[in-house]
Amino acid sequence: MFARRRSARLEPVPIDFHDTANRRTYSGREADDSWRTAITGLADPAGAAVVDVGCGGGTYTRAWHELGAASVTGVDFSEPILDEARAAHGHLPGVGFRLGEAAATGLPDSSADVVFERALIHHVPDLAAVVREAARVVRPGGVYVIQDRTPEDVAEPGAPEHPRGWLFEVFPRLLEVENARRPSASTVADAMTAAGLRDVSSSSLWEVRRRYADREDYLAEIAERTGRSILHELDDGELDHLVAELRTRLSEGPVVERDRWTLWTAVRDA
Ligand SMILES: C[S@@+](CC[C@H](N)C(=O)[O-])C[C@H]1O[C@@H](n2cnc3c(N)ncnc32)[C@H](O)[C@@H]1O
Repeated sequence: MFARRRSARLEPVPIDFHDTANRRTYSGREADDSWRTAITGLADPAGAAVVDVGCGGGTYTRAWHELGAASVTGVDFSEPILDEARAAHGHLPGVGFRLGEAAATGLPDSSADVVFERALIHHVPDLAAVVREAARVVRPGGVYVIQDRTPEDVAEPGAPEHPRGWLFEVFPRLLEVENARRPSASTVADAMTAAGLRDVSSSSLWEVRRRYADREDYLAEIAERTGRSILHELDDGELDHLVAELRTRLSEGPVVERDRWTLWTAVRDA
């Protein structure tokens, strides 16, 4: 069984990105080939200036660099999370991190070939403002890519390769939280169009989130709420119940965790 967490949570506490206790929650993961293949079909990383807004621990900042981007700037509004990103990836040539709000990054107009936002928009209070900011920062002819889960993506049923779906079977109220914070595919597309972008389109991606050596590795992450803000909506007793329930649904061996995402792309008029 797992070590007891530092301080027991008797009530759910929504994630606070600025709390140093959460500084590593989006670190220590690598982008999978399923993501690389999909993304290179949507935007050309070779020699590109890329901005990764809401970069978290820099998993995808690094991935853009590895795909051949000339520069990648990770932007995030959390100092502790950015510190971890810098420590892990800041040494890579062309890779930099800066503190910034998604709706007001402070980056120059038309300075990016690609603006990328993964798992950001369901956390922002003003989607239109975030999309307008990206449309300002991307250069004419450049590409804006948003990756997030819609309510339909979240509602995908649980399965051994999609255990996230089981969270909502065990705690249906979590689905209400998700539905309240996640914009639909058309809401995002409309925001892109309203920001003056063209060629707006969307597609689905089953991305491998992580490969775990065995079930207990996976459950250890769940027990720590690592990289899953929705688990901050459970208190510790509920989290223990979830772990026990998932243990009955997964076999002991390796776990390959996949999630369904929506990818929206749009181009700034030349
Ligand atoms: C779910 S994490 C995603 C991290 C990373 N993009 C990934 O996919 O691994 C969301 C990140 O967005 C950041 N964030 C949330 N709201 C933000 C805002 N308004 N401005 C800038 N960053 C924000 C958080 O600090 C967090 O690091």
